[in-house]
Amino acid sequence: MSKKIAEEVLFFIENDFVKHTENVVSVALALADVFHIENKKDLVEAAVFHDFGKIVMIDRLAKKGPLSREDRMVVSMHPNFSLALTKDYITADAGVLILLHHSYADGSGYPKIIAGKEIALQILQASDLYDALNSQRVYRRKTVDGWESIVAQKIQNTDIVNALINISQQKMEFPERYEVPKVVKKRIEHYVNVFV
Ligand SMILES: [Fe+2]
Ligand SMILES: [Fe+2]
Repeated sequence: MSKKIAEEVLFFIENDFVKHTENVVSVALALADVFHIENKKDLVEAAVFHDFGKIVMIDRLAKKGPLSREDRMVVSMHPNFSLALTKDYITADAGVLILLHHSYADGSGYPKIIAGKEIALQILQASDLYDALNSQRVYRRKTVDGWESIVAQKIQNTDIVNALINISQQKMEFPERYEVPKVVKKRIEHYVNVFV
């Protein structure tokens, strides 16, 4: 790995990858409370590892400038890689959530499986979209006008969208602010060394 790529990868992991993961888990936990999800274990595992497969392609993602067509094609396989890299230490249900986190109820996304309206999956998808469309931190102002209608279209659950609006307006208490544990960071470093 060249020094430049190593620096880009490191910057990306710290400033995007880890923070995005922490935001998605935090939002998912808040939504899980609203929708009275009793077993949060699968949802949290899935939220922690949903983008883990991006490590396989992290040099493409970390480089400056827009993604090429080939980059986008590779990126569209990250849910499959996330599942492949984590399936031995997560539950089967968490694995399904990971595989389907970009397969939306309106038929858009990837892999091309039209997901059902299972609440845990919709919470994961909504938390992920919310953070992806708001490039700053969860608690700060939104940066994409119309993120609400994008999420509503894809998720097709207005109750979840309304809960996200409450989060964005800080009307909702966060049960906990999630931090990626050291053991997961170690695993990220391990795979970066393997794949980059
Ligand atoms: Fe993803
Ligand atoms: Fe994500």
